[in-house]
Amino acid sequence: MDVPTRIEAALTAAVERIEGPSSPPQLAAAIRYAMFPGGARVRPRLCLAVAAACGDDEPGVSDSAAAAIEMLHCASLVHDDMPCFDNADTRRGKASVHKAFGESQALLAGDALIVMTFQTLAIGAARAPQRLANLIHVVGRSAGLPFGIISGQAWECEPGVQLREYHRLKTGALFSAATIAGAIAAGDSPDRWRLLGDRIGEAYQVADDIQDMISDAETLGKPCGQDAAHNRPSAPRELGIEGALQRIDQLLQEAVAAIPQCQGSNELRQIILAQAKRFVPKNYNRHAA
Ligand code: IPE
Ligand code: IPE
Ligand code: MG
Ligand code: MG
Repeated sequence: MDVPTRIEAALTAAVERIEGPSSPPQLAAAIRYAMFPGGARVRPRLCLAVAAACGDDEPGVSDSAAAAIEMLHCASLVHDDMPCFDNADTRRGKASVHKAFGESQALLAGDALIVMTFQTLAIGAARAPQRLANLIHVVGRSAGLPFGIISGQAWECEPGVQLREYHRLKTGALFSAATIAGAIAAGDSPDRWRLLGDRIGEAYQVADDIQDMISDAETLGKPCGQDAAHNRPSAPRELGIEGALQRIDQLLQEAVAAIPQCQGSNELRQIILAQAKRFVPKNYNRHAA
């Protein structure tokens, strides 16, 4: 099975587990709506790329780790779009979950997806239970306090935050969970995989900030101009677009240099370099600027 098929199959298995006569139909529908169709699926792809580089000896475990990370990401998007955060009406080219199902269902759908994240890890690790504690630890760390998404989102409510710290928490944390969980799922040691995910995640958020400034809602499938509208810290607001593009280059160089020695490190480097080309916005001509 190719990587995209493995990811969709693992996510489908997870959503089917919560569907059934006892599940409130609107909430079950909101959860499915938040998961499918997906966006870039960049985090689960990264997770599986690292697992492959480490030998991927238990694909059931890596599939569930990849799906768990994507569900946590979907939860973060559902909550991020709600009126109390970014108040975004669209996501992935369709109405955001609260617009389609109402705020109560969106709140619960995000909560349920977070719970499903950890259930999926537990069910998927049945063939390698000795890997489960580390998986729960790393995914939990990326979601919570002080190092995870919740921390990053909450810094928006404080009077000031340092940009790089904010990016590492709200986005880098889940990317480093993706690289580390891929390694753990394949029986490798966790810590040496943190820097790679951290740097890719930060670069990804800088690219998202640039898109927010220069792209349009139709291209992105979500509102743009949000960082200025909500007065959020943003890389191009702080560094200018050229400065932000240079930061992406720097971060990606650091990412590639951080790839640990493993049996598939050359292939992993190629995958990361190929994916990274997409970070620079297509609609921005660097040399014309
Ligand atoms: C959006 O992430 C939020 C950020 C951290 C930039 P993605 O751009 O990966 O969203 P989808 O999953 O492709 O929709
Ligand atoms: C991305 O935040 C990180 C999370 C969703 C936790 P943003 O608010 O910058 O992302 P978009 O632009 O809405 O996808
Ligand atoms: Mg936000
Ligand atoms: Mg947002």
